[in-house]
Amino acid sequence: MIFAGILAGGVGSRMNIADMPKQFLDLGGRPIVIHTLEKFLLNERIDEIYVGVHPSWLTHMESLVEKYIRIKRECVHIVEGGTDRNSTIMNIVDAIEAKHGSSEEHYIITHDSVRPFLTSRIINDNIDAVLKYKACDTVIPATDTIVVSEDGESISKIPVRDKMYQGQTPQSFQITLLRRLYEELNEAERGILTDACKIAVVRDHPVYLVQGEPSNMKLTTISDYNVAQAMVGGNFID
Ligand code: CTP
Repeated sequence: MIFAGILAGGVGSRMNIADMPKQFLDLGGRPIVIHTLEKFLLNERIDEIYVGVHPSWLTHMESLVEKYIRIKRECVHIVEGGTDRNSTIMNIVDAIEAKHGSSEEHYIITHDSVRPFLTSRIINDNIDAVLKYKACDTVIPATDTIVVSEDGESISKIPVRDKMYQGQTPQSFQITLLRRLYEELNEAERGILTDACKIAVVRDHPVYLVQGEPSNMKLTTISDYNVAQAMVGGNFID
């Protein structure tokens, strides 16, 4: 089976707004997380969708699904998010395996709730790649030169731009592989490895690249949010 795991367990501290985590902000008439959810609901190859939500916002998320989702609502499951991004993914994996058991035929397409401009092409390319390679990451080639600074004050090195990519999501995995790699990590590694693909990379497991899109942006700051509002014709925050 193919599952989507939407990561909505964060609090959005860098967005700097007090009243709610950024994934619940309105974007052109619907909450950001609902835009994201809809992209997966529209894909016929996805069997079920799990949304990992911060414990304080579970009831709110349930009410949003009730209010906005008209099709395939029975395919949407809300689970409690974890203390970091990877624990939210593992809570989702636990919920999937509690319902469907463990199988080498189970795959998860994990995606940030705050990347609402995901395309169906990217979802389909992730599904194709994960079925073939067991692990894949969505990236775009770096257009700016990437500069490395060890001390934050001067340049340590400038890597060759042609080999630099910016990581996006989805990040997709065969679930048994992801669980095995995650369970091999010690507590210190779990604290450092906030990116799910990095778990595979540090264990030398190949991660295939899927081409993303610049528009598949992550809404991290108010200025990202205002760009997103411009994309859907909504109102800005000052
Ligand atoms: N996320 C999650 N569980 C966590 C932390 C983050 O599911 N414990 C999710 C966020 O909800 C978001 C995605 O991971 O959709 C990308 O993370 P980021 O943009 O860093 O979100 P936040 O952690 O909410 O933001 P900030 O770091 O500014 O607090």
